[in-house]
Amino acid sequence: MILIKGGRLVLPEGIMEADLLIEGEKIAKIGKPLSPKKAQVINASGRLVFPGAIDAHVHFRDPEDTTKEDFSTGSASALAGGVTTVIDMPNYRNPPTTTIAAYNQKRIIAATKARCDYQLRFGGSEKNAEEAARSGAPSLKIFLSETRSELTVSHSAAVQHFATFPAHKPVCVHAEDKERIENRRKRFKLQSEIQDKLSAQLACEFSLREAAKLNRRVHICHLTTGLEIEMCRRYKNATYEITPSHLFLSTADLKRLGQLGRINPPLRDKAEQAALWRNLGKDTIIASDHAPHLITHKLDGAPGFPGVGTIFPLLLDAASKRRIRACDIARWCAENPAGAFYLKNKGRLAEGFDADLVIVNMKKKWKITAENRLSKCGWTPFEGKEIVGKIEKVFLRGKLAFDGEIVLSKPGMGRELL
Ligand code: DOR
Ligand code: ZN
Ligand code: ZN
Repeated sequence: MILIKGGRLVLPEGIMEADLLIEGEKIAKIGKPLSPKKAQVINASGRLVFPGAIDAHVHFRDPEDTTKEDFSTGSASALAGGVTTVIDMPNYRNPPTTTIAAYNQKRIIAATKARCDYQLRFGGSEKNAEEAARSGAPSLKIFLSETRSELTVSHSAAVQHFATFPAHKPVCVHAEDKERIENRRKRFKLQSEIQDKLSAQLACEFSLREAAKLNRRVHICHLTTGLEIEMCRRYKNATYEITPSHLFLSTADLKRLGQLGRINPPLRDKAEQAALWRNLGKDTIIASDHAPHLITHKLDGAPGFPGVGTIFPLLLDAASKRRIRACDIARWCAENPAGAFYLKNKGRLAEGFDADLVIVNMKKKWKITAENRLSKCGWTPFEGKEIVGKIEKVFLRGKLAFDGEIVLSKPGMGRELL
């Protein structure tokens, strides 16, 4: 038994000053004061205790390209950043996670390498709607824009997936309009002009409209404009996510980032970035879209940022500056993703739930570096950023998984969530 004593427990509804008792893998009791016999006591006084963050959108690249990341390094980065559960995206190639065989291969790799808990997402292609539905996978990802892989689908194939994949399971959409983008590529040079806001909004609207016709669950990934959030709110069966990349960076950062600043969908201007912040609400999910690439690939134009190690720290810093509340983080990064993706007994500090928790000292400052974020890709767009809120301990199902310095959880300790 482990007793977390004297901490301030962060719930979406508010902060609760209480002790928390862990028995085995579960939160056994929350109350004040608790004084069981024979428990190991962790003094959390003056600390915030969060539920472990759930990052519902990561690309750990295993086995597609393990020079960039793999399940062991990606999940180490997750834990060092307070993330105890991830949902891994289908691979594009080598092999694309669009067949049951490739999906099962990935399940075996993840089972032997993951240090944190995880779920795997199936990939939709032009022709695999029936196999995707039959796979039993908890969610599906489709791309409406170019991926240089078979994961890009036409509108008619998207509709087929919407009709065939079990209606209560989320179909997650990368919503950018391929045709519009291809036309604009002939006329514009800047990525933010080629992949403009309307390209995203049109694809978002298409996905919501088609999902609504079939009364099915849909999840819009990494949306970048205030209007898309408003659109998602009009359809009760939709969930959506926003990335810290689009919240904390804008086109104003491109001068500093150069080629490293390329990401899909692209960074938006400051006004749209402000619209995202304004629209954050009770239904928001924040997910990183952790998309690691080596610097050499970035210089060749690869889109995407690593992010699983910075999602929670950046939000803690925003809470320290009173831009958001600590309680919002518990909602956006734990309760809401657990709800949207049916992660049983995850995402909340409550009796009977998995003892995934993060102890944070909000009085400490530290600097983000690629080195301390542990991703194999070796860089971060937030290099050198000084932030408030030090993660001192992370527990995964009752076991100390990160002690503030070192990731203690070993490959294979993560568990698949079905
Ligand atoms: O910037 C991105 N990178 N956006 C995506 O949708 C894919 C991702 C990747 O996998 O590299
Ligand atoms: Zn995407
Ligand atoms: Zn992605």
